[in-house]
Amino acid sequence: MSDLLEEALAYAREHRDAFVQELCEYLTIPSVSAQPEHERDVKMAALWVVEHLRQRGLSAELLTTEGAPLVYAEWKSSHTHAPTVLIYGHYDVQPAEPLELWHTPPFEPSLRGGYIVARGADDNKGQHFAHIKALECLLCTTGALPINVKVLLEGEEEIGSTHLSRFVREHPELLKCDCVLISDSAMRSLQQPTIIYGLRGLLDLDITVRALEHDVHSGHYGGNVQNPIMALAQLLAEAKDREGRVLIPGFYDGVRALDAAERAQLARCAWGEAEIKKETGALQAFGEPEFTPVERRGIRPTFEVNGMWGGYTGPGIKTIIPAEAHAKVTCRLVPYQEPAHVGAAIRRFFEQRCPPGVTLEMRIGPGSPPTLLPLDNHAMRAAVQAATATFGAEPLFELEGGSIPVVHEFAHTLQKPVVLMGFGLPEDNIHAPNERFALASFEKGIEASVRFMIQLSATS
Ligand code: BES
Ligand code: MN
Repeated sequence: MSDLLEEALAYAREHRDAFVQELCEYLTIPSVSAQPEHERDVKMAALWVVEHLRQRGLSAELLTTEGAPLVYAEWKSSHTHAPTVLIYGHYDVQPAEPLELWHTPPFEPSLRGGYIVARGADDNKGQHFAHIKALECLLCTTGALPINVKVLLEGEEEIGSTHLSRFVREHPELLKCDCVLISDSAMRSLQQPTIIYGLRGLLDLDITVRALEHDVHSGHYGGNVQNPIMALAQLLAEAKDREGRVLIPGFYDGVRALDAAERAQLARCAWGEAEIKKETGALQAFGEPEFTPVERRGIRPTFEVNGMWGGYTGPGIKTIIPAEAHAKVTCRLVPYQEPAHVGAAIRRFFEQRCPPGVTLEMRIGPGSPPTLLPLDNHAMRAAVQAATATFGAEPLFELEGGSIPVVHEFAHTLQKPVVLMGFGLPEDNIHAPNERFALASFEKGIEASVRFMIQLSATS
């Protein structure tokens, strides 16, 4: 083991408790990007991490663009040929609701059973904090990093990253690098590191069906006017068949077919009915019968209703026909679907089917495209080496069903390898009550990041 590596890892061990305390402080800031009442907290989190990076010797600043501020920091090596790593993460978090299901308050981090429990502990504060601590371990032992580092943290990932994607397109010089390192994903288990080579894209839509000027008596008018909730339910029900296939013409345009080799490769991932039931409490797995669970997650698109509301939902009886009904839908997209094309297909489908007596209004977001990342490059090899040395097993390569919208933009605008090496665990409850991050994930995440940076400097 090199001296540099040994010293940096010793520093990490000595400062373990302090690192956890610092992360807990970061986690007290309720930086929920989706909720306007947390706008100030989102800024506070950005300021907190800028200050933290400055204290550790990086030049860090807030870039105020439209939307939540970007945190940008740099460390320049004195070696002229040192490679540059761009570290990306997000300091915004998901809403904490439903609050009553948390065992301890979401923004009062608690240490229990080897975990840090708090909203954002895994997704994504704990994970990018591991990278930041890795930089500290290297800087504080030797006074220098073996590579150039750029850190870019955003506050809008959980709401689609639209501003950041544009920022990347407009500032390729600022973000110029040799590779991008991201840990906003999960590993199979602490014994099984995982590198993600594909992410699904996302398309979001809000649908409103209106039937009446105001709610009316369901006895006096019932049987004579449209019920907007019923009309919306019928429209949505027509979008999918009973086995989970989407029936919208054009929806699957561009979806790549799998060859036998990739199917076999995906089949090596042991994730199926049993895991789904255990992780979610589902009665059984459900989805397109001609594909396996891993295929459905990795290479098939989805159409999912996230929420639907309208009318009266309080206690007792209220005999009305509601004036309007609402639904939120998101689709996961896979290579080579195009968000705009899918959006247009959905709009056409619902407009053509909208029954007489109601009006239909749809807001369809710009969405974010899916990503498929090349595996054969120096950054991937450094990540494989770092993960293997840290966890004692070679990493699995998997397709992730979730999205990190800006990754597509990084890959296409910067034209450099992107490494998605996350340290979260499947049981970390991301986006759910009692989100947590294992202390072991945090420690190993720091170690793997240190090893990655040293490895990169040695092989570039
Ligand atoms: N960290 C997740 C993405 C993820 C989830 C990776 C599960 C690996 C496993 C990320 O923060 C996220 O939740 N992204 C959103 C993006 C969306 C709002 C555009 C998602 O996937 O829903
Ligand atoms: Mn998330």
